[in-house]
Amino acid sequence: RYRMYNAADSRQSRTAETLGFNVLDNQVPITELPNTLSIDIDIASPECIATTLHACDKEIFEGWGTSSGLQDTVIIDKLYKVAMLISNVVQNPSAGCVVISGCGTSGRLAYLTSRRFNKYLRSQGQEECFNYIISGDNDALYSSVELAEDDPSEGAKRLREVVEGKTRVVYIGVTCGLSAPFVAGQLEMCLSDLETFTPVLLGFNPAHQARKTQMKNLNKTFHQVVKNMMMSEQEEKAFILNPIIGPEPVAGSSRMKSGTTTKIVLDILALLGTASFHSALCLSAPRLVEMYKDVCDTVYGQAKSLGSLAYMAKQSLRNNGHLYYLGCDALGLIGIVDASECRPTFGASFHDIRGFVSGGIDDLDSRPISSTLSTEDFDSEILPNLDACDTVIIFGADMLQRVNSRLFSFPCKRAFVNFITDEESSSALRDEVTSSKLDLTITVDICFALNFLGWPQGPQETFNRQKDGGPAVGLPTSPEAWSGTSGKMLLMQLAREAAMKWTVNCTSTSAYIQLGKVYRNLMVDVRVSNAKLFYRACGIVKDICNIGEAESCTLLLKSIYDEDNLSKVQTSGDVVNHILAASEMDKVVPIAILMGLRSCSVQQARSLLDTQPNLSRLLKDFQ
Ligand code: F6P
Repeated sequence: RYRMYNAADSRQSRTAETLGFNVLDNQVPITELPNTLSIDIDIASPECIATTLHACDKEIFEGWGTSSGLQDTVIIDKLYKVAMLISNVVQNPSAGCVVISGCGTSGRLAYLTSRRFNKYLRSQGQEECFNYIISGDNDALYSSVELAEDDPSEGAKRLREVVEGKTRVVYIGVTCGLSAPFVAGQLEMCLSDLETFTPVLLGFNPAHQARKTQMKNLNKTFHQVVKNMMMSEQEEKAFILNPIIGPEPVAGSSRMKSGTTTKIVLDILALLGTASFHSALCLSAPRLVEMYKDVCDTVYGQAKSLGSLAYMAKQSLRNNGHLYYLGCDALGLIGIVDASECRPTFGASFHDIRGFVSGGIDDLDSRPISSTLSTEDFDSEILPNLDACDTVIIFGADMLQRVNSRLFSFPCKRAFVNFITDEESSSALRDEVTSSKLDLTITVDICFALNFLGWPQGPQETFNRQKDGGPAVGLPTSPEAWSGTSGKMLLMQLAREAAMKWTVNCTSTSAYIQLGKVYRNLMVDVRVSNAKLFYRACGIVKDICNIGEAESCTLLLKSIYDEDNLSKVQTSGDVVNHILAASEMDKVVPIAILMGLRSCSVQQARSLLDTQPNLSRLLKDFQ
């Protein structure tokens, strides 16, 4: 396996060109590289998949290569500076606002953060000041609308609408790969008016690896936008937050590590930016990073149970059943988000994995969503049709209490995952859990992570620890300082959300790995739904088949158009035409790979796939 990757390394320059990232430095961006820790993930047991994901996630906190990940002192320093700017906006919301924007997962996390902190500000009797933008609008929160991320002018237009009437704007553009044109258009708009805007770019590649393909309607590359950001950063009029956290466990799947790091960074910025309302907690960025690390270790400490959960999920999907996530509030939303991401990442169908939320959905702003997402929808549409092949996962004690009792009379598999943040709730729940007919119960006790911040052991003990010179730096200065509970509640919610994200990402990713949707650690059934994914698909075909760039592109087009003899119109068409055609097709990338490996026709490749739906096994047979 290592030899295979060394060979792949020597081909990196070609891959980079294909991806449109290369030109100067002959490197594939870190966020697109295969992670050497997960090379064998496709042949690992479910438990081992969880431990592999853990090993990759640890790089967020411990760093990758020579980088120190989220503990990098330059990054920590910038976090404080940006948090200070947010704090100024929070103090004066009528003049200013914080806008968080991104595409796909990045936009969904923008939404979750702004929703969470607006709720918090409301609970403190304050005006809301967080806004989110997601390319593809609100429908993209819960389903994949990938093509919208290619349009910089649409990004700028949306930002203009959101900030209307504001004179101070902290803009945070999230693009994990430093590549999304939608975000580039917004950064450019901010850079042209630095009196009003302070642009912040959040991503996980070094600046020199920002994408170098020309963007339509902007006449620049993302890399040029980043260079302009760097110039303004010298005067602290712009900030680039790009901790290096290493490659994804499934190459390019930025919903995983990069998404989690996005959540952590946004949480920390917003927590520090709203610190005046929870000053009793005396939070510091490094301590918060530690808290998330503890949550991460605690979740994956249950690798065996996570493996069982993912095995249940995989069994359902393999037998043409479904996987359903049920949760309240943010847990429900995170489940919905995870489900929606399986379509572009693994070529899943909309019905394979679905999430439902009880409560919370009405907190969306007035823009409509077209999908059915509430647990009431689940009760009316899904429940009556549940069968033994389906798995329902109930997340959180509040959801277990609300779940329709009819659920327990259907022959489906039922699992319960509880994230415990205090002792009391755990004992109160015990009876309920034992009386329910559950096939699997997982209890993730994240008290420890919160204890690290001095809570919830109680004020006196914490205060003593601080006086005794124990590990209490940054903790409250007096026992009374613990009196406000809202800050603690907020931390608890954020820790629980992170635990939920790790749990569902592990469940769905592991299920699809077991189903053979990942070959080595490459997403070989990616849906070709935007420019980045088109070029990524070309790179995957090229590397697996060990062929040239032009040839891999031709194979991809043959697969997209279902034609062995491509017409001139098809070969000379714009990439956007290929993407539109590909969005109607299934198995575009697997068919192209098989054609390359077997030198066969589109039809023959399709027939081969029909005989063996496990792509990973099929490709191994032929490589
Ligand atoms: O294009 C699809 C996608 O890769 C999503 O899976 C991802 O969440 C989104 O793009 C955003 O990517 P980035 O944060 O790198 O702009």
